[in-house]
Parts: sequence; C-alpha cells; structure tokens
Amino acid sequence: MKKYTISTFGCQMNEHDSEKISWILEDMGYTPTDDIEESDFIVYNTCVIRKSAEEKVYGQLGHLKDLKRRRPDLIIALCGCMMQREDVREVITSKHKHVDIIFGTHNIHKLPQLIYSNKQTGKTVIDILEENKEIEDNIDANRTHSYKAYVNIMYGCNNFCTYCIVPYVRGREQSREPENIIKEIEALAASGCKEVTLLGQNVNSYGNTLGGDYSFADLLKAINEIEGLERIRFMTSHPKDLSNDVIDSYIELDKLCNHLHLPVQSGSNSVLHSMNRKYTKEDYMKIIHKIKKIEPKIAITTDIIVGFPGETEEDFQETLDLVQECKFDSAYTFLYSPREGTKAAEMKVQVPDDVKHKRFNRLLDMLYPIGLEKNEELIGETLQVLVEEVSKNNEEFLSGRSENAKLVHFKGDPALIGTIVPVKIESCTTFTLQGILV
Ligand code: SAH
Ligand code: SF4
Ligand code: F3S
Repeated sequence: MKKYTISTFGCQMNEHDSEKISWILEDMGYTPTDDIEESDFIVYNTCVIRKSAEEKVYGQLGHLKDLKRRRPDLIIALCGCMMQREDVREVITSKHKHVDIIFGTHNIHKLPQLIYSNKQTGKTVIDILEENKEIEDNIDANRTHSYKAYVNIMYGCNNFCTYCIVPYVRGREQSREPENIIKEIEALAASGCKEVTLLGQNVNSYGNTLGGDYSFADLLKAINEIEGLERIRFMTSHPKDLSNDVIDSYIELDKLCNHLHLPVQSGSNSVLHSMNRKYTKEDYMKIIHKIKKIEPKIAITTDIIVGFPGETEEDFQETLDLVQECKFDSAYTFLYSPREGTKAAEMKVQVPDDVKHKRFNRLLDMLYPIGLEKNEELIGETLQVLVEEVSKNNEEFLSGRSENAKLVHFKGDPALIGTIVPVKIESCTTFTLQGILV
C-alpha cells in the first residue's frame, strides 16, 4: 500500500485544496501517513503571502534531499501559490533537483496525469496554468472533519491591494455557480455536516462574474434554507463591498454565526489609500457601528499590517486608536513583507525593521487586554458550542467553537464530538473560554 503526506502552508483556501489533493490521492489508492520517512509521495502545498511562508518551504525542502537520496522512488511534489511564480520555479528546478512534480493552484485535478508522466519519463514534471479559467469546479474533497467543512464560493481576486501577491498567483476573480455550491452543501448536510465556512478572497463581491444580479446575500439566504445544516460562516469580507443586505442577513438568517472577520489593515486614511483598499477608516467604523447596532453580541475580528511603506508614527497611532474604538475580539497581525511584483514593494519609503517590530509589539499590547475584556464579558453566559475534539492540553476536556468563534474548553464525553451543546462560561484567558456543560 503506497502512502502519502501533505504539508499545507497558508490560508483556508490552501487547506481546502489539500483536502482535494488528498481525495485524488486516496482515489488512486494511496493511504495517509504523518511520517515522511514511510511516505511514498510527499506534497507541499505552499504559500507566498509573506517571505516567512516561502522560507519555511525552502527549509523543509532541504531536509528532504537526504530522504530522496536514500529512497529514489519517493515522489516529491510542490504545489500551491508559490509555484505560480516563475522565479520560484526557476530556483526549484536549478537548486532543488530532488523535486519531481510542480503544479499550480488551478490544475489540482491533473495530479494523476502528472504522477503518471513523472513515472514514465523519470523527469521533473512542471504543469502550471497561468489563468484560472479552467478551474475544475467539482473536485471532491477528503474533508478533515465530518461535522464542519470549507466550501469555495469563488476563486481568485481582482482587488490588487498594493501589498498583496494573491491576485498575481490565484488569478482573476471567478464565482462558482450558486447551484453547484448549494448542491455541494446539501450533500454535506445530508452526511451530517453541521457547519460550513464559505471561502473567497472577497466574498462580498460574490456573483459579479456570473452576469446576473445574484449576490452574496442571495447565496446566504439560499444556504440558510438547507435542511440539516446548522451554521454558516464566511471569509473573507472586504469592507469596500460589504452590502447592507449582507449586514441585514445577521438578523434575518438564523444559521449565520454572529461573527464577522473584517480585515481593516490600517487605521490611517493615507495608508489605506496607498494600500488601494478603497475605503476610509470612517467607512470602516460606520460598518462596525451599523452591525453592532443590529447584533450587539457579534464578535468582530480583523487583519492588521504593521509597517506598510510610508507608515509614520502618526499613521500607526491612528491604527491603535481604531483598535481601541472597534474593540476587536481578536486580530491577525502581520509585519509588512515586501512581495516582488507588487506595487508596495517598489515604494521608496520602506519602514525599517526595528521600527516595524516595536510597533508590532505595541499593537499586541493593545489588542490582548481588549481580547481579554471581550472574553470576560461572556462569563456567566451560555454559548452553543460545536464540539471539535478532545482538548490538546488536557484529555479530560473537550474543545470546540462557539457561534462567535471563541475556542471553548469544558469537561465532557468524547461522544459529543460533532454535536452542538450548550456550555455555561465560567472563566477565560485572552484566547480561550472555559465552562461547564449545562
Ligand atoms: N483576501 C483577504 C486576505 C488575504 S491574505 C482579504 O482581503 O482580507 C490575509 C492577510 O495577509 C491580509 O488580510 C493581510 O493582512 C496579510 N497580508 C497580505 N499581504 C501581506 C504582505 N505583503 N505583508 C504582510 N501581510 C500581508
Ligand atoms: Fe489580497 Fe486585497 Fe485580494 Fe485580499 S482583497 S486577496 S488582501 S488583493
Ligand atoms: Fe492563501 Fe497564501 Fe495563497 S494566504 S491564497 S495560500 S498566497
């Protein structure tokens, strides 16, 4: 029996693509293993969003050289966003000759063919589609969990935020047909899936490429009707496209979880302008106020980049002020990382590393106490928790996610995994809640 290992870097898109790759490999007769020593097929599904993501892949690839020398039959494949870049492919083919197959983000379905042709020729096979026009829309996925699933609703991105490499590697925005999405979720729900997370780089522009007036709000409404499904999440929202209809969905649709991930990136209008985000901090605050008014208990999370080119102390201070005002439940924070080929990488005034790091730490010093405060507000409340697993730190405990996306630990029977149970919150830390089953 041949065995495979997949290592996934990057975002939920990549995680879901890896589930598809896993389905293809198992269909070909491979079985999964975590031990690369006993693997016959190793895949790295790569990310290129920041330099650190790329470095991780090169680091791991170095370790595989020796393994390949000892086991020449081993197949090493690289795929994902990093492989969409020609400069990266050149480095791999000249310096990492132990790689057998390189494919991209738009042609996962061709993997069996690529494996075959590598076996036939014994040569490195490179297959990249520059555009995502031909994306095979209905590849099955070997879902990591039975009770929750990722579902692509669109591919690519048209926004070209000046720091971001995604539009260059994932291609132009393309929405899936609503019928295909709904069929996929109906099948998931029929097999016991309770929660779906709809994936897109900018879910709020869903429908734009379909040629009609079917919108993201319409899609949410249709998914809300699916029998057996209990929770809907989505990511990511772009503030410039978040419509009032989507905001209203939070009151109208009972399955939509009370959590919104809305990346702000910066609190300074001049930085936002230079990032090509197409909204101001005032626009952003207006959305936050509107949504908190109709759904006061909603959890709001965000992404923030520190040290974008030209960011002054005053600009950064405005980000801190916005964080204070929005009271984010949590935030993903990133040190700006120049990506070759993007506009921001060419900007003249890059912020020195030491300044970036200091600002980054000041940002965390502000975010953490707010996160703790938000969690403390939940003490005494009973939250509905989708039970996910036995807690990693203590086997007596289970952990799961509340509707507002908090990680909750409580004592319980592992038979509850995959069900939604009420948990009364008794204590918390900055990142987790603890409670008892009621
Ligand atoms: N499509 C999503 C996010 C995609 S990338 C959106 O628009 O919100 C996830 C996050 O990575 C971004 O929100 C941004 O905060 C961060 N990011 C992207 N490019 C980056 C770069 N060059 N340096 C640092 N952070 C970056
Ligand atoms: Fe990147 Fe902006 Fe597109 Fe998000 S919306 S993927 S940050 S270009
Ligand atoms: Fe995601 Fe990284 Fe690609 S964040 S879309 S895997 S560049």
